[in-house]
Amino acid sequence: MDLTLFVWRQKGPDEPGRLEQFEARDINSEMSFLEMLDVVNEGLIKKGVEPIAFDHDCREGICGTCSQVINGVPHGPQEKTTVCQLHMRHFRDRDTIYIEPLRARAFPVIRDLIVDRSGLDRIIQSGGYISVHTGGVPDANAVLIPKDDADSAMDAAECIGCGACVAACPNGSAMLFTAAKVAHLALLPQGRVEAATRVCMMTEMMLAEGFGNCSNHYECQAVCPKGIRVQFIAKLNREFIKARTKLLLP
Ligand code: SF4
Ligand code: FES
Repeated sequence: MDLTLFVWRQKGPDEPGRLEQFEARDINSEMSFLEMLDVVNEGLIKKGVEPIAFDHDCREGICGTCSQVINGVPHGPQEKTTVCQLHMRHFRDRDTIYIEPLRARAFPVIRDLIVDRSGLDRIIQSGGYISVHTGGVPDANAVLIPKDDADSAMDAAECIGCGACVAACPNGSAMLFTAAKVAHLALLPQGRVEAATRVCMMTEMMLAEGFGNCSNHYECQAVCPKGIRVQFIAKLNREFIKARTKLLLP
C-alpha cells in the first residue's frame, strides 16, 4: 500500500504545531498502524529528519498508551480497537490519513502525537484503590458475590485509561473513565467500604484537573476501545448522590 499521511508535528508544549505531509510507501496491509509509523520513522531517520514521536508500550491493546486521533476519531475507524491493534488492511491503497494527538484541555501536547495524560493518574491516586485490610486469600466462594455484579465489575475493570473518551467528548469530560473505576470497585464487597469517600475524592480531582462534565453526547462510548458503556456514568452519579447523603455533604 502507498499512503499519504498528514501528521501533527509539535516540538513542545509551548511551540506552535502544524500538520506535515509524509509519504508511506510499500506498506504491508497486515502491519499494525504503529508498525506503519515505524516504517515511516525508519525512512525519516535515514534521511536525518526528526522521527514522529508517538506513545506506545504493550502493542497488544492492554496498556492504553497508544491513543492517537486518526481521521478525526480517537483510535481510528475500527470499533473497540486500540491504535496498536488497528491493522492497515482497514485502509485502502492510496488513502490519505490524518493523524493527530488526543485533543483536550486537560491533555497538553508534549511532542507531536504524545500528550500528557497524567491527569488520569491523579484521579486514580485520589481514590481509585482499596486501602482496607482484606486479609489473606479467601477460599473460593467464601465471599458470595452475585453473578451480575461480578460480571459488571469485570466489564468496568476493562478500562485501560487511554483517554480516548476525553478526546471524543465535546466537553473534554473524563466521566466515562472515572465512572469505570468507581463502578468496578463499588460493585465488589472489598471496594464498598471506601465507596463514599472514593467517589467524592475522584470526582473532585476530575474537576480540579480541568476535565468537563458529562454532556450526554455518548461520544465516549462510541470511541472506547474496551466498550465501556455510559450506564457506568449513571452508576457514578448514583454513587455520588448516595455518598453526599451518607457523608452529609452539601
Ligand atoms: S473508558 Fe474507554 S476510552 Fe475512556 S479511558 Fe477507559 S478504555 Fe479509554
Ligand atoms: S500500545 Fe498498549 S494499548 Fe496500544
